[in-house]
Amino acid sequence: MRVAFASSSLASTQADLLVVGVPADKVADTLAGLGDFAAAVVAVAADEEFTGKPGSTLGAPTYGRISAPRILLVGIGAGTLADVRAAAGSAGKEGRARGAKRVAVAFPGTAVGSPELRAAIEAFAEGNYKFDKYKSTGKKAAAESVVFVDIGEDAAAVARSLALVSGQELARDLVNEPAEEIYPESLAAVAKSLESDTVTVLVLDETAIREKGMGGIYGVGKGSVRPPRFVHMTYTPKGESKGHIAFVGKGVTFDSGGLSLKPSEGMMTMRCDMAGAAAVIGAMKAIAAMAPAVKVTVIFGAVENMPSGTSYKLGDILTMYNGKKVEIHNTDAEGRLVLADCLSYATELKPDALVDLATLTGAAVVALGDWYSALYTRSDTLAGTLTARAGEAGEGVWRMPLPDLYKDKIKAEYGDIKNVGGRAGGSITAALFLAEFTTLESWAHIDIAGPAFLDAALMHYAPGGTGTMVRTLARWAESVGDSSSK
Ligand code: BES
Ligand code: MN
Ligand code: ZN
Repeated sequence: MRVAFASSSLASTQADLLVVGVPADKVADTLAGLGDFAAAVVAVAADEEFTGKPGSTLGAPTYGRISAPRILLVGIGAGTLADVRAAAGSAGKEGRARGAKRVAVAFPGTAVGSPELRAAIEAFAEGNYKFDKYKSTGKKAAAESVVFVDIGEDAAAVARSLALVSGQELARDLVNEPAEEIYPESLAAVAKSLESDTVTVLVLDETAIREKGMGGIYGVGKGSVRPPRFVHMTYTPKGESKGHIAFVGKGVTFDSGGLSLKPSEGMMTMRCDMAGAAAVIGAMKAIAAMAPAVKVTVIFGAVENMPSGTSYKLGDILTMYNGKKVEIHNTDAEGRLVLADCLSYATELKPDALVDLATLTGAAVVALGDWYSALYTRSDTLAGTLTARAGEAGEGVWRMPLPDLYKDKIKAEYGDIKNVGGRAGGSITAALFLAEFTTLESWAHIDIAGPAFLDAALMHYAPGGTGTMVRTLARWAESVGDSSSK
């Protein structure tokens, strides 16, 4: 997708679809630029009771009265950042539904240099995304260009936003691809393909994983004919560096539950269980393109969790990378075992901050639904930073407690700890489990099980992978790189 800027009246703008953002109760004023077609559209809007309420839309053909063959009015209410984002998302979605190659958008408030402009570019692309690779018929083309009408040029915003878009779309594609396409080796190969003059990628195979003592990754992976991989990516800025941040992702390319097999309904979408790894890979792609002045480490363990004669078993005791012994009570609580080794390894690198992303628990979905990811950290500073960056990116995170009081729930009879903590507070006890594998003060865990994959469309997002947290993480790196001190 390209982003262009045109200075033309609404009536003369060349596009397959013209989208006009309408502030609340400003229909006639906003549409004045349609010239002698304005009165007709204002009349239709009145008839359809379209007044510019946020989230409302009204589409109509233009019968040659203006250059664009179709117009879409989208309400932007009071014009907040969230309103603009939602409107741009609707524009992208409508453009895709109609196969519009060139979409022109006129949104009040998206001035050069404004956060609204970046939000509009990013949300338009989100709305325009649809995974239709495996459809034989009825495909609609993605937009080739989105053209902002009459606001001047903002090349810097375009470059940064398109970097985020490409990272997020990579994450969405990786999640949407079937598990027969994306398995540990192929996921590691995608990471490897991002190698460049600033990005290095180290991949460990199953033998190396075992030799390194990564008992969590090895144990979960050994039931599958697809061997596990451990991946360590490093982005090093060319000039000065203002610090070092590290991202860890859960890369379970398919979660059948293992011997604690999931029922079919629960297993249906479990190709999404590598969404954490997909997000950190996508963030790395975006960061490499934006080139911020901060070192960024990305680590993920890629495994397929399968039942077989070689699977890890209930009652097994796994020795983890940091030496802790974990008693297995349920092979479906596999993500925390994979993450644990990654977190201990990442801790050795002494980053200034460490954040892991994981589709870790059904309990997080029950608690917070499809929009909010559950954020766990003992650092108020890191909680504040991540919440702020997520707010700018338009992604939902909600901080949850990480109380020592519940640690008893993961005490084991034979090993040091067990891998399940019971139904109550299941997302919290999973986070407490992870906390056993890093000594970093500045560590956060984000359970993305709800937002990572949508069973049905939500706002402007199509069903399937969302690429959640790619923009939050990449914007975080961007802001650390921009800051004058660490
Ligand atoms: N991958 C799942 C969690 C999940 C559930 C992600 C729904 C996305 C949507 C995870 O590995 C899992 O199976 N968790 C179990 C843990 C339990 C056995 C302690 C769960 O949440 O039921
Ligand atoms: Mn599981
Ligand atoms: Zn899982």
